[in-house]
Amino acid sequence: TLAEARAAIARHTRLVADFPSPGVQFKDLTPVLAESGGFASIITALAHGCPEVDLVGGIDARGFLLGGAVARELGVGVLAVRKKGKLPPPVHTVTYDLEYGSAALEIPAEGLDLTGRRVLLVDDVLATGGTAVAAATLMREAGAHVVRVSVIMELTALAGRATITRGIGSDVEVHA
Ligand code: PRP
Ligand code: MG
Repeated sequence: TLAEARAAIARHTRLVADFPSPGVQFKDLTPVLAESGGFASIITALAHGCPEVDLVGGIDARGFLLGGAVARELGVGVLAVRKKGKLPPPVHTVTYDLEYGSAALEIPAEGLDLTGRRVLLVDDVLATGGTAVAAATLMREAGAHVVRVSVIMELTALAGRATITRGIGSDVEVHA
């Protein structure tokens, strides 16, 4: 349940000062996911109340762990949204800014038909929203449509929700 997920997060999240750069407090969810009850309740919570989708996009890297399990929970397939340079060509590529630095995400441009697919994006943390918007832009380039973004944790001070509304559209649901 949601309460179990909240309790596991409160109990097992490791807070790390000045990582990966000075002034950033890193919230490491690794210990939460390593708890059987923590992982199960988080997967249930991420899938909870999801509108109808036919694909889950798991965002590199921790979104892979979560996205696969959420896809199974919803009975749909999963697509790894990968960091640049991992996939064989041809690919769709979108570059984006991070809380610290910049990066690029890629999905295959051949081998699967994403036209008209309704996608749930899954990731561990929503910070500035740049990653989620980049992933949604990739899906749009491939003809798919992101209907929801599910994350474990939203860093509200960074206003990622507003960035998603601006970058993806006001109809996308943000579930944290
Ligand atoms: C972190 C986190 C999210 C993203 C959120 O990933 O896992 O994916 O940042 O930030 P944003 O909302 O500001 O875009 P990171 O890029 O650090 O890499 P990792 O998941 O591969 O560790
Ligand atoms: Mg990430």
